Amino acid sequence: MRSTRSNLLLGCVLLCSVSLLYLGMSGVDCPPKSHRRRWMELTLGSGNQSLSLTDHFPEDTPIIFIGGFPRSGTTLMRVMLDAHNAVRCGEETRVIPRLLTMRATWSRSVKERIRLDEAGVTDHVLDSAVRAFLLEVIVGHGEPAPRLCNKDPFALKSLSYLAHIFPKAKFVLMLRDGRATVHSMISRKVTISGFDLTSYRDCLTKWSSAVETMFSQCQAVGYARCQPIRYEQLVLHPEEEMRKLLHFLDLQWDPSVLHHEELIGKAGGVSLSKVERSTDQVMKPVNTEALSKWVGQIPPDVVNDMAEIAPMLARLGYNPHANPPDYTKTEPLAPEFNYSHKEKSADVPHPS
Ligand code: A3P
Repeated sequence: MRSTRSNLLLGCVLLCSVSLLYLGMSGVDCPPKSHRRRWMELTLGSGNQSLSLTDHFPEDTPIIFIGGFPRSGTTLMRVMLDAHNAVRCGEETRVIPRLLTMRATWSRSVKERIRLDEAGVTDHVLDSAVRAFLLEVIVGHGEPAPRLCNKDPFALKSLSYLAHIFPKAKFVLMLRDGRATVHSMISRKVTISGFDLTSYRDCLTKWSSAVETMFSQCQAVGYARCQPIRYEQLVLHPEEEMRKLLHFLDLQWDPSVLHHEELIGKAGGVSLSKVERSTDQVMKPVNTEALSKWVGQIPPDVVNDMAEIAPMLARLGYNPHANPPDYTKTEPLAPEFNYSHKEKSADVPHPS
């Protein structure tokens, strides 16, 4: 009786051990492969998997950053690039601009800077940590591709900083007539913190200031690294604009970028979020429907003061007094910021 019981016990122990071993092995051998691991295999071969993220994605990773004021065609731009056979942008990550905003506050106060330095948390340490975070998110949130890209509209408020921590990154800054952008925000109730959606005047003033922050940084890093693209030109002349852009990004021409809608949901194509505000619009082919929807929607007192309320309109080549401007006529963008030019013009006496 006693030996039957101990045999039964031994049998149970053996059965449990075999089951645990099986479960353990299947857990180790067959997890779904992460995007990061597949990316590493794709770019470096499978032999190098012991290297760390920063070895694989050093600071000279040529990331493409797309941004601009929300409702400026940023999603359209990223889906067009997603359609390129060598590029993956993917959905907005949302956490990247938040981390960049937080990073900007860490070194702002002198007192805090001293405290951090005393603790060994130098700018160098912080920059490496931010770079690693960004890369991990950019790589991990979507399919692997030879060229990775990120689209989080307000990340480009930190364009100069991104250019500093990623010296090989390139930037695509989407610009659009602010009257159309603000009308889109207000009519679709797209909230942005600090913007009063009941007031065109308030939104246009703040649009101008936010766009100035991004555009000035784009000019400061230079047009060799930052390409401003006007939404109106993109939808009126998609092939011309995309050919220029791909050349700027050192990418070969791929006609798929002109038909992004055919690649939605396909492997290696365009992945869309169910909850982003522009998803219903980017499912359509490139079209010109949204160019002048704002005309007649802005209160007359705001229209009269437009040049003063939104000085960036004129700087971006949009006539603030034309309702609407003739978008087929491209006015030049303000030239790149040029120190020697500024010094020279400072010497020129102003007419009295
Ligand atoms: P409207 O709301 O004025 O229509 P973002 O993605 O930066 O928020 O920009 C949204 C704007 O991009 C929308 O403006 C939308 O019309 C435009 N857009 C999206 N898909 C488009 C497409 N396929 N063709 C033309 N414009 C498109």
